[in-house]
Amino acid sequence: MKLHKQDILKALESISVPGEGKNMIESGAVKNVVTFADEVIVDITISNPTLQAKKKTEVEIMKIIHDKVYEKAKVTVNIKVDAPPKSSANSIKGKAIPGIQNIIAVASGKGGVGKSTVTANIAVTLAKMGFKVGILDADIYGPSIPIMFDVEMEKPIAVNIDGKSKMKPIENYGVKILSIGFFTQPNQAVVWRGPMAAKALNQMIFDAHWGELDFMLIDLPPGTGDIHLSIMQSLPITGAVIVSTPQNVALADAKKGVSMFQQESINVPVLGIIENMAYFTPAELPENKYYIFGKEGARHLSQDLDVPFLGEIPLVQSIREAGDVGRPAALQTATPLEKAFEKLTQNVVEEVVRRNEDLPPTEAIKITTMAGCSAVKNK
Ligand SMILES: Nc1ncnc2c1ncn2[C@@H]1O[C@H](COP(=O)(O)OP(=O)(O)O)[C@@H](O)[C@H]1O
Ligand SMILES: [Mg+2]
Repeated sequence: MKLHKQDILKALESISVPGEGKNMIESGAVKNVVTFADEVIVDITISNPTLQAKKKTEVEIMKIIHDKVYEKAKVTVNIKVDAPPKSSANSIKGKAIPGIQNIIAVASGKGGVGKSTVTANIAVTLAKMGFKVGILDADIYGPSIPIMFDVEMEKPIAVNIDGKSKMKPIENYGVKILSIGFFTQPNQAVVWRGPMAAKALNQMIFDAHWGELDFMLIDLPPGTGDIHLSIMQSLPITGAVIVSTPQNVALADAKKGVSMFQQESINVPVLGIIENMAYFTPAELPENKYYIFGKEGARHLSQDLDVPFLGEIPLVQSIREAGDVGRPAALQTATPLEKAFEKLTQNVVEEVVRRNEDLPPTEAIKITTMAGCSAVKNK
């Protein structure tokens, strides 16, 4: 059986694109169709980033080709998501707090695994995708977001909003930033107890003029202590992502991180695990991968714990350099790193969409009775 491209295109005309009043060919969603013998490959681009939308489109295409052209055709559908800002913003509707749709906590059990680096790169990638993004740098032990965005020397100013004085976040690369580092001296060791940190963060969320945000990423301090309990319980966190390297010591701590979020008194959905420094790649030998911290440890952990695996980022010198000069690596266009961060970010968005479809908004706990932790009140 020899399939013909014309017949395939004709069949695809009978699939309509939701909300556009056009069929799949008219809308330009079909990018390419290749046929040989009884095989057909269809490349398409859709705007809805959810897994369900992808699956549905794939099934529709297969069905129509089988029904209208040849029932035994071997069909491959390659789907690329190209989310226009508006429609994707609609599909990520959460209800964290008024004006802020989704609050995502970025956590790691262990320090130095690249939590801030990953946060910064996801943030700039979200901004490039057209989302409105903010980062709240809550790492009281080592706030590094200002350096990574080259805004170290900036000081947020107060603005008057409806008669109230509000902090104005600093903005760079399309990302709004507030950091605990803006309010402390450099090199000053900040030793705060959980409730104090939670209070400061509450102010940076509720007494700041963020405007509308689709995503607020919180770069949490490493660890799973008291401080995390207070923060998690006083803010309506949409979900948490955990960053780990493949190394055993990091994985053990990442596991504690996951169970912290899942414990009853916190109950923040875990969106998934990210494997950072998954392997080392030298710039001059881009095909070579060295698994210096072990191979796929975080991927396996996510399987063991039954939480989504969000993606892997290699250990490359340019990521470190980009962080140090204050221009996240994902901003460099047409590079493998940009692609890797795009894929990762896409997966995070998909998990947020799924979470918002499946679960009610996370509630900040009004009063906690945890032993050793004083009551945290939240309006
Ligand atoms: N994938 C990576 N490749 C190369 N260097 C990295 C990578 N991820 C993080 N780093 C570097 O490792 C160090 C620790 O990363 P950082 O993001 O500050 O970790 P954390 O916030 O978890 O403490 C930084 O110098 C950073 O530039
Ligand atoms: Mg950090």
